[in-house]
Amino acid sequence: MLKGELKVFSGTSHPELAAEICSYLKKPLGKASIFKYSNDNTFVSVNENIRDADVFIIQTSCAPVNDNLMELLIFIDACNRASAGRITAVVPNYPYARSDKKDQPRVPITARLVSELLTVAGADRVITIDLHAPQIQGFFSIPLDHLTARHIVAKYFKKKGTSNKVVISPDAGGVDTVEKLANLLDLPYAIVDKRRLGNEDTVEARGIIGDVKGKDAIIFDDEISTGGSLQKVVSILKEQEAKDIYACCTHPVLSGPAIDRIKKMPLKELVVTNSMPIPQKKRLPNLTILSLGSLLAETIKRVHHGESISALFK
Ligand code: R5P
Repeated sequence: MLKGELKVFSGTSHPELAAEICSYLKKPLGKASIFKYSNDNTFVSVNENIRDADVFIIQTSCAPVNDNLMELLIFIDACNRASAGRITAVVPNYPYARSDKKDQPRVPITARLVSELLTVAGADRVITIDLHAPQIQGFFSIPLDHLTARHIVAKYFKKKGTSNKVVISPDAGGVDTVEKLANLLDLPYAIVDKRRLGNEDTVEARGIIGDVKGKDAIIFDDEISTGGSLQKVVSILKEQEAKDIYACCTHPVLSGPAIDRIKKMPLKELVVTNSMPIPQKKRLPNLTILSLGSLLAETIKRVHHGESISALFK
């Protein structure tokens, strides 16, 4: 077991989540200064002693993605040079998670590159939630705790009641996750045959495998970005005569046309987590935000004390 004191620091991406985590842990947020020089270079200074400490840096991926990533790398470097005992990057939404394979000629695997950058910067461990593809864990040569928001979502829907509901995977890639959510809720699931066309945010939904007629549908995806996938999935569910439709995701990117699209969708409710900040103007009346604060704080506590993380999901 590590002897160093547990210290939590936050980048600038999601201070509210960092505050929640600190409040759960009953710890003050670590003191640091972060700013940009006039030449656009990021500066981080840790303003308290962290020698031999067990340091956790909270920094999620959200716009501006590259700035937030660079800030995290610089923060890790600062902690490393300040002789921290161990450095854990807590990255609820992992940057570039969708760039996880070479599926076209001459394209990068940026999710892998990010894993190398974190390691080279000096991270000893990473904590993240609902990776776009669980195989991304294999990109890391350092320990990675891959958490899931499924149990939080399941608890929420159990409270609402699960009668006559079906869980929907928006694509073949999400089946494993959706099957696990359906099992937690003791519900059947159905799969939409959704494909992405080219590198633009264009998608098509060709059909649905499973029975949704007359049932309330709970769509679960890792992220909603432009809302294009959700739009297609909702319209195919309506075609197939599903009743109320609930859309859920872990990472509410809600970029570009997402909000305008969602406003026009016949959604009973949009249920997301606070893995990334959601500006007030994007908070639609049918939006529910489930907090990851206690899950992340409990994980940090367990990592610090060398206790099981999987036990959290039993
Ligand atoms: C893709 O495979 C993901 O699981 C999501 O479905 C996708 O990232 C959503 O993106 P958008 O909202 O832009 O369609």
